[in-house]
Amino acid sequence: MSGTRTVVKGVGAYLPARIVTNAEMAKIVDTTDDWIVERTGIMQRHIAAEGEYTSDLATAAGRAALENAGMDASSIDMVLVATATPDETFPATAVTVQAKLGITGGAAFDLQAVCSGFVYGFAVADNLIRGGLAKNILLIGAETFSRILDWEDRTTCVLFGDGAGAVVLSGETDAGDRGIIANKLRSDGTKHDLLYVDGGPSTTQTVGKLRMRGKDVFKHAVTNLADIVEAVLQDTGLSPSDIDWIVPHQANRRILDATAKKLGVDPDRVVVTVHDHGNTSAASVPLALERAVRDGRIKRGDLVLLEAMGGGFTWGASLVRW
Ligand code: UT7
Repeated sequence: MSGTRTVVKGVGAYLPARIVTNAEMAKIVDTTDDWIVERTGIMQRHIAAEGEYTSDLATAAGRAALENAGMDASSIDMVLVATATPDETFPATAVTVQAKLGITGGAAFDLQAVCSGFVYGFAVADNLIRGGLAKNILLIGAETFSRILDWEDRTTCVLFGDGAGAVVLSGETDAGDRGIIANKLRSDGTKHDLLYVDGGPSTTQTVGKLRMRGKDVFKHAVTNLADIVEAVLQDTGLSPSDIDWIVPHQANRRILDATAKKLGVDPDRVVVTVHDHGNTSAASVPLALERAVRDGRIKRGDLVLLEAMGGGFTWGASLVRW
């Protein structure tokens, strides 16, 4: 399959209707709008309604991406859902989404790399397409983190929200220089205790709650993200000044600023949506991507860098010519 490039054909997003402001959070835990805005940049988060599941968010974002691509669901031969908050332990949320979209052929599976899930999915999808196993992949990052938060822990519950974002990725042999140029993935399992969920089917037989040592995660995030961006650029012979748009995982405004500074990239070139939806884990990169495509910032021919870091630790970056 040499000569096949993986091209982004469409983008989609979905945020649940219910918005919870920082002022509302201050009624739930001992916090203030000022603290949350100053330390994180977050102004509000969206929370899924009762009975609204990760697969519902994913399906809505997936539909929007298909519409944006001008493609019918029947042309999708692989559904990939990056999520750490699946509907059920099994089957995979991706097969539920496949059914909800009325797709009866091909394959579907979930991918678990927490906040890096979408970037991991991007690399996996690119390799599946270039390897010939799939032609049109619907890649979705979808989360209902509100369901795994400790709503009494102010150090974590103010940071996260629910949402979904999606892309349609297709293999093309006449894409020119468009498409995915390079991917880099890393993980380090020794950092488990800095960010994890204290439950699971095999350990506690419960879903568990998110636990994080935020300050430690912050420091690792800036270093790891800057390193992996430099590594992916080195692979391609490109430099930070070649990047038109950085679309980062949206965890904390200060991480975005610090990473851009470390890389020497103009902060105006960084797509920021964290103020609108908080940290939506695997959904955050495609949510930001969809926003910047929809409002016309990202245009055909632009060099776009996706990057994320999350629980595990896991981290990764991808370069794509739009
Ligand atoms: O998506 C996966 C990756 N995750 C991340 O990237 C998250 C990375 N970490 C962060 O974004 C930041 O470390 C946080 C936003 C979690 C925390 O910001 P910080 O500037 O590192 O604050 P801190 O943890 O050092 O806490 C400072 C103070 C503490 O009080 P004392 O000990 O100084 O008296 C906290 O108890 O702020 C207090 N605090 C709060 N105060 C009001 C912690 N949470 C809150 C809160 N409201 N919600």
